[in-house]
Amino acid sequence: MSNIGSYEDRLKNFSWSIAEKELGYNPGDTINIGWYCTDRICQMGKADKTALIWEGREEDNMRKYTFNDLRILTNTFGTFLRKVGISDGDRVCLFMDKAPELYIGFLSILKIGAVAQPLFSAFGDESLFVRLENAGTKAIITSRKHASKVQKILDRLPDLEYIIVVDDDGKKALKNKEIAFSLDQATPVDQFEIFPTKAESNSVLHYTSGTTGQPKGVKHVHYSLISQYLTAKWVLDLQDDDIYWCTADPGWVTGTSYGIIGAWSLGITQCVKDSGFAAETWYRFIEKHKITMWYSAPTAIRSLMKAGDEVIKQFDHSSLRHLASVGEPLNAEAVVWSQKVFGLPFLDTYWQTETGSMMITNYPGMKIRPGSMGKPFPGLTCALLDPDTYEPIHETNKPGLIAFQFDWPARMRTYWNNQETFEKKFKNGWYITGDRSTIDKDGYFWFIGRDDDVINTGGHLVSPFEVESALLEHEAVAESAVVSKPDDINMEVVKAFVTLKPGFVASQELELEIMNFIRKKLSPLAMPQEIEYIDLLPKTRSGKIMRRVLHAKEWGEEIGDISTLEND
Ligand code: PRX
Repeated sequence: MSNIGSYEDRLKNFSWSIAEKELGYNPGDTINIGWYCTDRICQMGKADKTALIWEGREEDNMRKYTFNDLRILTNTFGTFLRKVGISDGDRVCLFMDKAPELYIGFLSILKIGAVAQPLFSAFGDESLFVRLENAGTKAIITSRKHASKVQKILDRLPDLEYIIVVDDDGKKALKNKEIAFSLDQATPVDQFEIFPTKAESNSVLHYTSGTTGQPKGVKHVHYSLISQYLTAKWVLDLQDDDIYWCTADPGWVTGTSYGIIGAWSLGITQCVKDSGFAAETWYRFIEKHKITMWYSAPTAIRSLMKAGDEVIKQFDHSSLRHLASVGEPLNAEAVVWSQKVFGLPFLDTYWQTETGSMMITNYPGMKIRPGSMGKPFPGLTCALLDPDTYEPIHETNKPGLIAFQFDWPARMRTYWNNQETFEKKFKNGWYITGDRSTIDKDGYFWFIGRDDDVINTGGHLVSPFEVESALLEHEAVAESAVVSKPDDINMEVVKAFVTLKPGFVASQELELEIMNFIRKKLSPLAMPQEIEYIDLLPKTRSGKIMRRVLHAKEWGEEIGDISTLEND
């Protein structure tokens, strides 16, 4: 029997107080996610249950932590952070690979009432800089490998006081503002005073990219736990004896909402593999740890499909009982394929950094229509809006903007230091997601696409504006326009059109140099996979670059109205 039972029955009797009651939370109480994921699970008699099975790049580099270990280690890390001078409300960035310290550090930041700001360790110094500057980050927790990127931008970050290095071997002198902290060597702290955060206290700050402007810091609060707990329970169907694997990096909201909070607040054993994608490695991981529930993403699933079915047969995956996916459209073929090879379909889930928890999903036991995102989670008021009037559309199969009444617990509270952009997300009292969909006659949602220029590559949002700005910093680039181009695995990848400054000659060598420049400055995902030299960029008469024209060309689509094109 699945946790949700009948979706239709849940719709009828739904209230978020179901989660509040199960968590023993009464409105007005203190609510601290760090406590809920560690101390409370121990108090429920699961202190000795395994919370985390961590495996490094090499298979034999493995560690296990019980919920009591998590409790003590988060107390220990929290005590250190407090001693250093970090207190409630301070922003503390986590910038490292998927080491145990990332997970423990995250919860310890929450336990002291500070705000956790996880960022991908693959970020280059410029990506890192804009996010730390915007948040006014006070401390960054990192590893030796990534600390040099922080050093590079330190003099431009007056608010950044501490660089906490969790794996310093003492061989070299610590650099400016660096402090070493070793979880293994610190004195374990059993008793710890957790900061009494309330429902609306800030918890997590995730950065996401939009079409224009700098990345936006999506502000979440401790009350988000209510949605994350219940969606993890009903959609991921996590049950006491599950061994759960969320493949997402906590630099991405999936890696925190469901790779930390959802599962641990339910007292579930989680596995983490600190390495990139490789089909054999992943299948071996599932076999070795007897994973039962697997939450992944379409790009990974498509990569597994590409690796072929032969490799699957070399491993035992009979432990799997439930699969789900998030981040990009999950094509029907992928669902059909997973049913064939694992005997289970991947259930698609749709949500956003801003929503904090799952919004439209398929449920265990519900009849799946491959290619559909499913139906709204109980308690949500969802509609498709007409893009011109922002009024709900009532006809079936008619495309509209996905919108929600802004009232579920895990919704963002604002964009950090950017209330103006936050307010622009609302029309006629609806929160506009920026995605388009249709709804069929039975209420299933079918994703169409984004309503802006943001590129979703392998599930990660890349702002064309950010890449264009970075391109302009290269000495050879005069102007640039960035769009997506189709890709079999990542669905879409970044493509840049550039005009060169006088004295620079188009060449393959220069293309590689520019690509590498962006990879280092921003990230491997933001790096254009192709650079096309162009004499003139299509512009409107007022001088605005018409990305739409370039995009249409890449996707073989109709170019549409170009009457405002300057150079036609
Ligand atoms: O465009 C939608 C796409 O990813 C966007 C949100 O990205 P992000 O904030 O990085 O959060 C991703 C993880 C929750 C959405 O606006 N997206 C997400 N899930 C799906 C999706 N597109 C299609 N199908 C999905 N299941």
